[in-house]
Amino acid sequence: MATVTLAPMEGVVDVYMRDILTRIGGFDLCVSEFVRVSQHLYPASVFYSLCPELRQDGKTVAGVPVHVQIMGGETHVMAENAGFVAELGAPGVDINFGCPAKTVNRHDAGATLLQWPERLHDIVSAVRRAVPDTIPVSAKMRLGFAEKSLALENALAIAEAGAGKLTIHARTKMEGYRPPAHWEYLRPIAERLDIPVVANGEIWTPEDYDLCREASGCEDIMIGRGVIARPSLGWEIAQRRGESTGMTAFNWSQILGTLAEYHDLIEGMANPPRQAGRLKQWIKLLARSYGEAGELFTRIRRLEDPRSILAEVEVTKERVLDVA
Ligand SMILES: Cc1cc2nc3c(=O)[nH]c(=O)nc-3n(C[C@H](O)[C@H](O)[C@H](O)COP(=O)(O)O)c2cc1C
Repeated sequence: MATVTLAPMEGVVDVYMRDILTRIGGFDLCVSEFVRVSQHLYPASVFYSLCPELRQDGKTVAGVPVHVQIMGGETHVMAENAGFVAELGAPGVDINFGCPAKTVNRHDAGATLLQWPERLHDIVSAVRRAVPDTIPVSAKMRLGFAEKSLALENALAIAEAGAGKLTIHARTKMEGYRPPAHWEYLRPIAERLDIPVVANGEIWTPEDYDLCREASGCEDIMIGRGVIARPSLGWEIAQRRGESTGMTAFNWSQILGTLAEYHDLIEGMANPPRQAGRLKQWIKLLARSYGEAGELFTRIRRLEDPRSILAEVEVTKERVLDVA
């Protein structure tokens, strides 16, 4: 059956965001933010802090498994850390070959490695050997570093090394996040590989989901920014996949309710400036799908206290309800 995965997004999709989005629904799987591993075996605390779900059977409160993503260029260090995170109870290990960040690439990891298919092969096979057979190992890559000529070779290297699944963000590292995503490049790769290829990039609406599936030929997809901007997108897509949820896209009032719930959840951070930052970040990202969020953002952008932001959210919600 076709699956929808919530994308890893460092600094955005953390335990709280995974909790709220998987409770809204439509996701089969989450992938954690990357844990950058280099030089040595990391202590359990590093993995628990990026993926607190490890303490609850590797699942979100709604019961959706969270695979832990690791990133690095040193084969034995990647393998050692992967084996350890499996021991900690990760339901799956994902390897990041897509991160475009400069600091990461200077340190020889993420998308930089797409220039050397044999290195991808070495890392994936070492990680596969280090992780028990019962625990899936997957990878996430872009179409290339500067250009796309190695896309198939990289994908084959990853599959032959034993990955059970490959997600492809349909752009090169150099293309950054510039639209469009080149979904059509995924079709020949998906046809050639005998493992599932998961299409990723620029799915903002249920219609984009249809277009992506048609262009890429991939049954499975991963969504990042699209669901942050439109939190009901996961189950809107589930509906399109034939699961009758009987629900329609969230209206603005439901979004405000979701933001209030998120405010309460992130009190767990016990760090008010960070909480305020996260709330502002989400409100700003929501503006892509909800024009009203842009207006709300201008009102809260200077607020430093999460409770003041919540107060604005609640006042706005009351006004919406009065008008309705
Ligand atoms: C702020 C941000 C953080 C990200 N962090 C990660 C990460 O930790 N690991 C990863 O594999 N991809 C990461 N990505 C890439 C996303 O998983 C995804 O591939 C990309 O956003 C394209 O998908 P989308 O158009 O659905 O957002 C990040 C993207 C953004 C915008």
